[in-house]
Amino acid sequence: MRQKMAENNQNDALENLLHENRQFPPSPEFAANAVAQASLYEEAAADRLGFWAKQARELLSWSKDFETTLDWSEAPFAKWFVGGEINAAYNALDRHVEAGNGDRVAIYWEGEPGDTRQISYAQLTEEVKKAANAFEALGVAKGDRVAIYLPMIPEAVISMLACARIGAIHSVVFGGFSADALRNRIDDAEAKLVVTADGTYRRGAPSALKPAVDAALSAPGHTVQHVVVVKRNGEPVDWTEGRDLWWSESVETASAEHQAVPHDSEHPLFILYTSGTTGKPKGILHTTGGYLTQTAYSHKNVFDLHPESDVYWCAADIGWVTGHSYIAYSPLVNGASMVMYEGTPDTPHQGRWWEIVQKYKVTILYAAPTAIRTFMKWGREIPDKYDLSSLKLLGSVGEPINPEAWIWYREVIGGGKTPIVDTWWQTETGGMMISPLPGVTATKPGSAQVPLPGIEVDVVDDLGVPVQNGQGGYLVVKSAWPSMLRGIWGDPERYKDTYWSRFDGMYFAGDGAKKDEDGDIWLLGRVDDVMNVSGHRLSTTEIESALVSHESVAEAAVVGAADETTGQAVVAFVILRGSAVDDADIEQTLRNHVGKEIGPIAKPKRILVVPELPKTRSGKIMRRLLKDIAEGREAGDATTLADVGIMQVISDSLKK
Ligand code: WTA
Repeated sequence: MRQKMAENNQNDALENLLHENRQFPPSPEFAANAVAQASLYEEAAADRLGFWAKQARELLSWSKDFETTLDWSEAPFAKWFVGGEINAAYNALDRHVEAGNGDRVAIYWEGEPGDTRQISYAQLTEEVKKAANAFEALGVAKGDRVAIYLPMIPEAVISMLACARIGAIHSVVFGGFSADALRNRIDDAEAKLVVTADGTYRRGAPSALKPAVDAALSAPGHTVQHVVVVKRNGEPVDWTEGRDLWWSESVETASAEHQAVPHDSEHPLFILYTSGTTGKPKGILHTTGGYLTQTAYSHKNVFDLHPESDVYWCAADIGWVTGHSYIAYSPLVNGASMVMYEGTPDTPHQGRWWEIVQKYKVTILYAAPTAIRTFMKWGREIPDKYDLSSLKLLGSVGEPINPEAWIWYREVIGGGKTPIVDTWWQTETGGMMISPLPGVTATKPGSAQVPLPGIEVDVVDDLGVPVQNGQGGYLVVKSAWPSMLRGIWGDPERYKDTYWSRFDGMYFAGDGAKKDEDGDIWLLGRVDDVMNVSGHRLSTTEIESALVSHESVAEAAVVGAADETTGQAVVAFVILRGSAVDDADIEQTLRNHVGKEIGPIAKPKRILVVPELPKTRSGKIMRRLLKDIAEGREAGDATTLADVGIMQVISDSLKK
């Protein structure tokens, strides 16, 4: 499959970044105490596989040592730490208790209404053992799939680790996805069990989850045998006898004795669905040994983790890969204490995050640029009211961070002293790939800069030839990495096609990038039909399919238009059917329809009704031209359109 560059978007981004040349070297004090030293780069360059083998043995406890570090003989299907046996939950929990750290806080949980829970490593281990017993009692065995549809409550982490403990494969579905999206994911993975909650709190009000599970399972033909329901907000729920069980009556009553059995290093750990360039989400498959190695390695070195003293807070949702790698797994594997927050940043007031940082004396904060831009918009007087002096390091993930937001983050939140680590990675890469090392790299606002020691990336041109410094192209990964995806659930061909067919022997990430004069890497956004809205990946095709599934819509084209706060915003162009029902508020109707089909996060910000769509002679929609309109520009070169006059017709229709 060929994907072409969204040229004008890239060029604009390039232009803006070319003027950025500030640098922030680490302070001598920070560098002196830093976990990661410059020698890591030399070590990894001298013997890359030996380096990873050493990391795997140092960071993890293996039940059986591995024999081969990497088996790449069936590339692009990798096997890491072959022959090794390991249990992810044992590594995240039991071993810390055995080492005498059972009393250390694993999770400081903060509910949106202000209720709190503090869970030690010993308690979390016990909870996970109970959940493992309960899931097994419900017939869940090694290799079975479990769908987890939960809000940001500790039971989400407990459920994930319980699956890992027994070798069941979890598929976490973001709570903001609709019943239809949940059902598609349940069906694709053939999940046996669903873990959910009655609901959660959103912006100060109870918000339901269980009804979506009931709706998802209302049509027959699914594989789900049981639904375990956590009571969170106490809202009334419908109940299916024999199928539904309360967490309090199944997990909490189960035995707290459970022996973790070792699993093969390549045993599947989880599936996580993400948007691709077609309508059908891809079930990204991750396995155990390599995933744990790279996530623990990056968490420790990039965040400069001192587990006995740091308080770490990753403000992502468990439904996304960041919540998997940097909430559920690596912080616990590394024995860290972390904050977990249920709600929105503006409830009950816009200082909520900073109040949490002050209360728990958070030292490391990991957040998305969209959140930072929102805080900028609210004004610095809000964070200025809180004591943020505990912070020693700030991380960014999910989308390119613009230099203004980077500087604001460092100045206002980090008191002008904290290193910022801009970490580039993807659901597919499992863990961080490109990032400064905080005690080593002189950071540049807006650039993720350098691959982590042990990772080999490059920027190449259309033909796969590395570009010179100062040039832009496509980001690729040149060699296998431990936490790489092992495939797409049930679709090995799509895996090869999507990531390995564009450039010979290289992983195609789908991102545009540029190397600056020093060879540092600047990410420039997606080059395919994937949008990035508030750091969430959405597929243009998926939203188009949702729109055309509505009876009033004949055709639809969706673009991601630049947006000050959310990075990109979904803008849809629709052609209505002649038979379209008379609806004065068709835009709202369609927006709700997309919400129902995919979830509220996918609702277009704007829907523009047009008489035609710009297409090439071969019938391909030229989204580039629509993007020009959506971003308020004069449409660019339209000479390859089948009907060159069409752009005029479209813009005239929008003026009416
Ligand atoms: C984008 C999130 C620039 C990128 C971990 C990638 C970034 C997609 C950065 C993956 C960053 C993520 N700078 N862009 N630091 N981090 N991206 O799968 O386009 O939800 O391909 O994983 O987010 O999104 P995903």
